[in-house]
Amino acid sequence: MIGASGQIGRPVVAALARDGWEVTAASRGGGRDDAWDTGVRVARLDRADDGALAAVVGDGCDLVVDVVAYDASHARQLTSLADRIGAAVVVSSVSVYEDGTGRGFDTTAEPDGFPVYPVPVPESQPLVAPGAATYSTRKAALELELRLAGAELPTTVLRAGAVHGPHSPLPRELYFVKRNLDGRRRRVLAHRGESRFHPASARNVAELVRLAAARPGSRVLNACDGEAPTAAEIGAAIDTVMGVETETTLLDGPPPGGTVGGGPWSVPLPVVFDMCAAERELGYRPVVSYPDSLPGTVEWLTGALREGDWRERFPLMARAYPGAFDYEAEDAWLPRA
Ligand SMILES: NC(=O)c1ccc[n+]([C@@H]2O[C@H](COP(=O)([O-])OP(=O)(O)OC[C@H]3O[C@@H](n4cnc5c(N)ncnc54)[C@H](OP(=O)(O)O)[C@@H]3O)[C@@H](O)[C@H]2O)c1
Repeated sequence: MIGASGQIGRPVVAALARDGWEVTAASRGGGRDDAWDTGVRVARLDRADDGALAAVVGDGCDLVVDVVAYDASHARQLTSLADRIGAAVVVSSVSVYEDGTGRGFDTTAEPDGFPVYPVPVPESQPLVAPGAATYSTRKAALELELRLAGAELPTTVLRAGAVHGPHSPLPRELYFVKRNLDGRRRRVLAHRGESRFHPASARNVAELVRLAAARPGSRVLNACDGEAPTAAEIGAAIDTVMGVETETTLLDGPPPGGTVGGGPWSVPLPVVFDMCAAERELGYRPVVSYPDSLPGTVEWLTGALREGDWRERFPLMARAYPGAFDYEAEDAWLPRA
């Protein structure tokens, strides 16, 4: 398991170990999760070093799970070891999809650039052109390279939605959790709070890995939760977990000033993925619902915020959503609401 100590890796290792796999949990730091079975071996590995990966694979293994594969070179790293690897499960992203008219995650900031996806998006949806330009095109290149390997390395590619859970480097739930902890009881949601951006609990992604591990094959599957709640529903569910009551002002359109009422789920059109193929091919049933996943996330986030400023604790989140907590702009706007 490459990338074992992260938010997806932790439940993946736990699920595979429960299923009887002898797991080697690899990451640069060699971290171990308290919940893992004592039989789980831990290895320090920087996957950037081909030789180090080959050494961890050793004489061979039945399965490699890779959650930190980001481009074609990472795919080639795996396929070059195909004679020693039985099968692979590799985490990709739903950001590889485009809408058939050239719009995708990379064009969202352009005028009229937001993708108009079908609801829900099946795996047969067109993809962005593979290339080196962006995260999405690199993920498409990763997928292409793995597909070209075919039966040489049977690979399940999992296109994850908005991953959530404890240990997330990009905890979108922070948007509501921090507001509640900061005592903000009034909030604004753009797009009438109806935005839907399909979440994927790390535990559900782990379940998909577990199922794919038991049934090796060459396939590409969406990897999301069973439901895609609206931004308003997500906020309300977090309020319930935290035992707070809030008042929400709903806006018809996009965030005024770019930040007020925005946030991680604030999309003008639905971004929802079809999970039928995973159900059909692997018998996937989510192991946790979005609301039931929240108490663990809220508890972890609450603890993490005690450690310091959110920007320092979650630099990826601060880069992705720099205006997420622009209370000044919100307060200036709210009295007019
Ligand atoms: N977050 C989302 O919403 C989202 C959405 C779609 C897809 N994804 C995909 O999810 C994957 C990320 O998984 P995650 O959220 O579990 O990430 P994460 O929480 O950041 O964990 C990354 C794991 O990989 C290890 N790692 C990082 N670089 C490594 C390297 N060079 N060699 C070996 N291990 C390395 C890290 O530990 P060390 O630092 O100790 O090495 C850690 O165990 C990516 O493929 C991403 O594209 C995420």
